[in-house]
Amino acid sequence: MDRPSPEISVAEDRQSLYRAVAERLTAAARGDAAGRGAFHWALAGGSTPEGLYRLLAGPDFARRIPWPQVHAWFGDERCVPPGHPDSNYRMARSALLDHVAVGRVYRMAGEAEPREAAAAYARQLREALPAPEGVPVLDLVVLGLGPDGHVASLFPDTDALVSEAPVAAAYVPRLAAWRLSLTVPVINSARRVWLLASGPDKAAVVATALAEPGAQPLPVQRLAPRGEWLWFLDAAAAAELPRP
Ligand code: 6PG
Repeated sequence: MDRPSPEISVAEDRQSLYRAVAERLTAAARGDAAGRGAFHWALAGGSTPEGLYRLLAGPDFARRIPWPQVHAWFGDERCVPPGHPDSNYRMARSALLDHVAVGRVYRMAGEAEPREAAAAYARQLREALPAPEGVPVLDLVVLGLGPDGHVASLFPDTDALVSEAPVAAAYVPRLAAWRLSLTVPVINSARRVWLLASGPDKAAVVATALAEPGAQPLPVQRLAPRGEWLWFLDAAAAAELPRP
């Protein structure tokens, strides 16, 4: 598969990484709101993006972003109720969505039967977004990167990784839990895909992910975004990359 290489941005530290992403996201949101009337952004879960969300909700950025034109989607969700400590929705609300007036929030129903929740979210994507090639097109998908190379909730050796549906439900044995996730086709069709990785515990997987895939490509190595493909790293996460 002809896999595009991402453009890589390395910030000095985590806060500088957040600021770089926040500046780029502000420009994208303003440009899309002005030119297209909306900015459909799929938020990442996990711990890495939480500081970004807090920065976006803070005094340096909140007033620069046209929140009423922002449509907040989710890249994935744990199959738990929205108030559960593990909920990505709960984290995003606490860090950002409760503090700014986004136009609409599209929550994945973590409390519902997983396959029904996946089908319902796929319907919402199809109803709200253009799909010129049959796949809904988001304006931005933000991803984190797991130590095993998973992105969103596309974990190694799960059916979600090869699903052609826009949204997949998958039982993840290593977590002993169900997850909901946007799939590779939807991520690849987005106008922008940004991956965030911070800290020394991501250095090994970042280096592996950016090297030639082996016999068992990492989930992140299965991505081939057709639009903008950017990696935002801090120096610690970039530490094992070959020196330029
Ligand atoms: C999730 C995320 C997941 C996350 C990675 C990295 O629901 O957990 O969507 O894909 O981005 O696991 O997690 P950290 O940012 O916590 O390292």
